[in-house]
Amino acid sequence: MTLDITFQAGDPLAESADALIIGVVTSDRDLDLTLCGDRINEQLAGELARLASEAHFVGSVDSTLVVPTLGKTSARRVVLTGIGSIDRLDANAVRRAWGAAASAARRAGAATAVSAVPPSGANLTGDQALQAAAEGVELALYRFTKHHGMVRGEGDSDKQLRSVRFVGEGNNGHPNQALQQASLYARATTLARDLVNEPASVLTPATMAERAQQVANDNGLECEVLDDGQLAEMGAGALVAVGQGSKNKPCLIRLRYRPNAGPAGTPSSGDTPQNTERLIGLVGKCITFDTGGYSIKTYDGMLNMKGDMAGGAAVLGAMSVLRDLDCPYRVDATICAAENMISGDAFRPGDVLTALNGVTIEVLSTDAEGRLVLADGLVDAARRGATELIDLATLTGAAVVALGDETSALFASDDRLANELLTASTTAGESTWRLPLTESMNSRIKGNIADIKNTGGRAGGAIIGALVLQHFTQGLPWAHFDIAGPALTTKSGPLGPKGASGVGVRTLLTYLMA
Ligand code: BES
Ligand code: MN
Ligand code: ZN
Repeated sequence: MTLDITFQAGDPLAESADALIIGVVTSDRDLDLTLCGDRINEQLAGELARLASEAHFVGSVDSTLVVPTLGKTSARRVVLTGIGSIDRLDANAVRRAWGAAASAARRAGAATAVSAVPPSGANLTGDQALQAAAEGVELALYRFTKHHGMVRGEGDSDKQLRSVRFVGEGNNGHPNQALQQASLYARATTLARDLVNEPASVLTPATMAERAQQVANDNGLECEVLDDGQLAEMGAGALVAVGQGSKNKPCLIRLRYRPNAGPAGTPSSGDTPQNTERLIGLVGKCITFDTGGYSIKTYDGMLNMKGDMAGGAAVLGAMSVLRDLDCPYRVDATICAAENMISGDAFRPGDVLTALNGVTIEVLSTDAEGRLVLADGLVDAARRGATELIDLATLTGAAVVALGDETSALFASDDRLANELLTASTTAGESTWRLPLTESMNSRIKGNIADIKNTGGRAGGAIIGALVLQHFTQGLPWAHFDIAGPALTTKSGPLGPKGASGVGVRTLLTYLMA
């Protein structure tokens, strides 16, 4: 099932379709139908305004109203979607509004939709608005249907929105380029969502490595996978220990993107000094299932732990479109894949592990395994020449307690990196809040018989996790996203169904393309 999103110049009211999507901005007095809703209202002899008023629809964000037009307009129904106040118009409002509209159109049974172009504003160009709208549509319509069988499946698929045509006048920007960008951002997010939604019985470290290899082949990346034997030999003792209790052996996945890798010998824009100096190292926690190990989780705690690889999935998702986006920077990815299980081979509380940089770690909890696998991944990324490190990890329940399940925690050793990532997350519409790396709390992870411990009590647990990671960043500018909250959503929203959100992908891409 593919979704076709296009742009054409013209009058949206002249196009026939199952649904016509129109944005509505809130104005404090009355329903404001200025974005061509007023012309439809005329065609419907004022009925649109009356129905909207009866439904108390005033164009608030995340509200929609579907009105059948009974042959009086060229579209079978009108989908009004609230954008909110025009003063607060930004990419987020548009993205959510068009996501909600696409869902409403699909729910109404529409297979084809025409949309008026979204409004632009003081801080939002026409292209940016169009990109946000198209992104919203694609993210909203995402479904994970791979495992639908005899009960769900057929029947679901004929109720699909197959095409959305944006129609408008006077776009003197690059609408097709905006749509292309939107589809790449959505495609990357979809890849991450698919990986996270996949059960742990399917998505083992080896499967993740296969998927990464495939993504690399299809998208001009280099990919190298180190198996547990190689990891043990090179001294990645922390990643090896976390994975040793499972039949599904751990591995470390390295991906490499280089800008504009044209035909050999061709001078490329990627050779400009600025771009060859910078090498961004992305590192992802990829625990394909986290039982907690011998520090075993409760029933509730373990329920969603197939999603403990969301950091790795976000990194792979972002990497998958760098070539097509023509990203100007060199980017290396490191995905630390392991399954945290219990067996006669599993690691134990009290064990001492030696990470790749020689730092020794006393294991107090086998459930604090993310920081262990990332320890080796961060050092590996640094050794491959990264000039800055960004890791993503479903690291701590404490981050969820602190910020809720919609917001990622950001920690950074470097203010430039932190601020640019925060700006990127705002543009991408991925809620992020910076927390401090309280240095004095390092006393809480001082080791008894090793350099450090892997836990340090409950207070400020997300900070403790970040402080452990910092020991493996080799002094580089580093940022850490704790995405434990937003990685999986428990309810559907305007940008997708419940389940995997793909959080982090669009923030990373926005940062890399800024
Ligand atoms: N994968 C979990 C963190 C997590 C919790 C992710 C909830 C998503 C939702 C992580 O490996 C973990 O178990 N962390 C422990 C750390 C503790 C033992 C110091 C936690 O948060 O309880
Ligand atoms: Mn854990
Ligand atoms: Zn975990």
